[in-house]
Amino acid sequence: MTNLPNLENYWLPFTANRQFKSMPRLFKAAKGNYYTTIDDRRMLDGTAGLWCVAAGHGREEIASAVAHQLRTLDYAPAFQNSHPLAFEAAERLADFLPRGLDRIFFTGSGSESADTALKIALAYHRVTGDPLRNKLIGRERGYHGVNFGGLAVGGIAGNRKAFGNGLTGVDHIRHPLDIGRNAFTRGIPQDGGIELANEFEQRITTLHDPSTIAALIVEPMQGSAGVVLPPAGYLKRLREICDKYGILLIFDEVITGFGRLGTRFAVDYFGVVPDIITCAKGLTNGAVPMGAVAVKREIYDAFMTRSPANAIELPHGYTYTAHPIGCAAAIATLDIFEKEKLVERAGDLSDHFERAAHTLKGIPFVKDVRNIGMVAGIELESFPGKPGARAFATYLKCYEMGVLVRYTGEIIAISPPLTIEKQEIDRIFSCIAEALTALAAEGEQGLEPTRYLKNEQQWAAHQQEIRHQQAVLEPTA
Ligand SMILES: Cc1ncc(COP(=O)(O)O)c(C=O)c1O
Repeated sequence: MTNLPNLENYWLPFTANRQFKSMPRLFKAAKGNYYTTIDDRRMLDGTAGLWCVAAGHGREEIASAVAHQLRTLDYAPAFQNSHPLAFEAAERLADFLPRGLDRIFFTGSGSESADTALKIALAYHRVTGDPLRNKLIGRERGYHGVNFGGLAVGGIAGNRKAFGNGLTGVDHIRHPLDIGRNAFTRGIPQDGGIELANEFEQRITTLHDPSTIAALIVEPMQGSAGVVLPPAGYLKRLREICDKYGILLIFDEVITGFGRLGTRFAVDYFGVVPDIITCAKGLTNGAVPMGAVAVKREIYDAFMTRSPANAIELPHGYTYTAHPIGCAAAIATLDIFEKEKLVERAGDLSDHFERAAHTLKGIPFVKDVRNIGMVAGIELESFPGKPGARAFATYLKCYEMGVLVRYTGEIIAISPPLTIEKQEIDRIFSCIAEALTALAAEGEQGLEPTRYLKNEQQWAAHQQEIRHQQAVLEPTA
């Protein structure tokens, strides 16, 4: 058992801090498909960390590549200088990406990738002599990270409401989730895709002049807002409309990239090719913060041929763009993907995963199961007056039973490492079934988070100790 750290100073992201600090859930180690918690429990990782640890935890290949790089070249200035590994990582990633999207801008995260892609789209129209194309279109329930650009085109009210007015010149299209029509569909829903995509055209022609639209950004599969799948034909039709009006299409593949759908990227799954792809997460197997934006060669060439000689073609970048450690981790990750045929593995496991996910039909409170590749979303009926409480209690119960799942709103999202075994997949879904069955028996009481406190006495004693230390350090009188 590792001692609990002082919990006072760290402000956790996207977390109810006060609640968390009263019942902290800390991991101290990870290997393969399992975490070890601070109180020495083994936890099957049903979420690949945060959708990022595709190749499983604790990969020696990545650790030694990173350690070697740290000792060789810890940092090189990203502007006006660079280092060989940046070019090698870009070349390797370009080889892994869909053909034609082979000019790579590195970032530090998915949020930075989203904002970089939006800025490239705006600047592209300017450099090609079409500066009035300056509006951006996103989608309801879209998640493109938390920076101002991504937030503006994102479509989750809870993420936006606290932060002012955001960007102007942004609009959104409808999300494609239709449980009434498509509940418990296995894989992609077949109905409604074309009519939904046509609304995009109707909206931009009615509300905007399409010649003022710079780009449409969508996640091919909306992950963060609860596994929302595009119906058949939908993405292809969006592509056609973008082509018709000269609008750039951006696919945010931060979740769908790197094998998650059983193909390298969602582009390969759907056969629809955007102008720009953003990625992050799986790029370094979650081991080092890094993202990337891949653009079609024509886009890059437009900047190179139309900008004045010796000018900086894109005044944009980060101190940590193409960080040597990130590049080392990305190359090592791509090596693992190649050597272990992880994408093919994910594709092969997808049928088993789908069958296991759909065993939840008929389990208490389950009102929809959605799946694609190695992702499943389980939508629950809310307890009256307590939205989200049931999914949160399910997450806590699964945690107690040694399985890490993710919840968002009233949806449980499952996206294990692609190294997972079939019996581990079965365990994840049987654990969710068990948790929901127990919750059905417990009624409203089962939704009370404090029921799931572990080691209460130890934590209470620790917090008392911290308060004591603070009182000694900061006497009030
Ligand atoms: C589709 C998508 N875009 C962007 C992001 C933001 O990535 P990050 O948290 O690395 O900034 C996420 C994160 O989950 C995502 O799912």
